[in-house]
Amino acid sequence: MLRKIAFLIVLASLVLAACQPAAPKAGLDCAPNCEYKDLVVGFLQTGSEGGWRAANTASFKETADQLGLKLKFYDSKNDLASQFAGFNQFIQDPEVNVIVLAALETTGWEDVLKEAKDAGKIVIIEDRRIDAPEDLYVTYIGSDFALEGRNGAEEMCKLLEGMEGKNVWELVGNVGSSAAKDRGQGFREKMSACGIEITKSQTANWSITEGKQVTEAWLKETQDVQGIFAQNDEMGLGAIEALKEAGLTPGVDVKIITFDATAGAFKAMLAGEVNVSVECNPLLAPQVYEAALKAANGVELPKWVPSQEGIFRADDPNLPTIAEGRTY
Ligand code: AHR
Repeated sequence: MLRKIAFLIVLASLVLAACQPAAPKAGLDCAPNCEYKDLVVGFLQTGSEGGWRAANTASFKETADQLGLKLKFYDSKNDLASQFAGFNQFIQDPEVNVIVLAALETTGWEDVLKEAKDAGKIVIIEDRRIDAPEDLYVTYIGSDFALEGRNGAEEMCKLLEGMEGKNVWELVGNVGSSAAKDRGQGFREKMSACGIEITKSQTANWSITEGKQVTEAWLKETQDVQGIFAQNDEMGLGAIEALKEAGLTPGVDVKIITFDATAGAFKAMLAGEVNVSVECNPLLAPQVYEAALKAANGVELPKWVPSQEGIFRADDPNLPTIAEGRTY
C-alpha cells in the first residue's frame, strides 16, 4: 500500500512538473559560447536632432561592422508613437535577439518591456534612463544627467561670482526625456548655493533654430540676463545667434553653459562665445554590445553603468589641443 502511495506521489509530481511553464532561460540558445556574430541587435534611436545624436548613431553602426554583429537600425524621428511601433516591430521580429532603446521619454515602457521579456529578447537601455522596474531590462548604459546638471550649476556659479544679478535663462530639451528632466533637476540642486535664479525656462527641443527663437522672444521682453543654461550645445548655439543680433556679446555680457561638448561647442568655446561645455559621452556602442554579449551568455550585469565624462572650459589654455583630439 505504502509503495502504491509513494508511486502515486512521484507520478503526480512528474505530471505537475510537466505542466509548469519552463523557467526563463538565462541568455540565448548559444550560451555560454555566444559570439558577436550570433547577435542581431534592433536599435531604437530617438532621431537625428544634433551632433551628439549623429555621433551616437555612428558609434552603433561603425562598432557593429567592426564586431561583425547584425544591426537593425530604427529611426524614431523624435516621435514617441513611432518609437513604440518600432519596439513592437523588434519584439515580433524572430531574427532580433537584442533590443537597444534610447528612450524619448522616461515613462510608459512597462508593457512593451514585459512583452519583450516574454518573447525572450535581451533589452538594454542606452543613453536615456527610464522609469521602469529593473528586472525588465538587462542594464542601462548612459550618463548621470543629474550630475551633469549639478556640474553645470557649479560652473555657472563660478562664472557669475561677484555679480549683483544672477538671472539665468534655461533652454530645456525634450521635456519628457531623462536628459532634460535630470539636467534641470541637478542644476536646481546646486544653483541656490550661489544665488542663481532661473528667471525664464522653456523647451527648445534640442534645436538650434528653436534655441534662437526662444531666446529672441525673451530678449524682446528684457535684457536682464547674466547666464544661459542651455541643456545641449545646439540650443546654446541658437541662443548665441539671438544674443549677437540683439547687440550683446555672448560669453562676456551673458555667460553660456552648454551640454554635450560636441565639435560645435568646441568651436564656440575657442571663439569665447560658450564659456563651459559639460561633456555627455555619445560613444556608447562598444559598452552596449559588450553588455549584450555577456547577457547572451547568461552573465548578470549591474543595472547601471554610468559614462565617464569631463568638463571643458573656454579659458583652459589646453583647449585647442583638446579640441584637436575630439572625434565628434
Ligand atoms: O540624451 C542625450 C541628449 O540627447 C543630448 O544632450 C542631446 O543633444 C541629445 O539630443
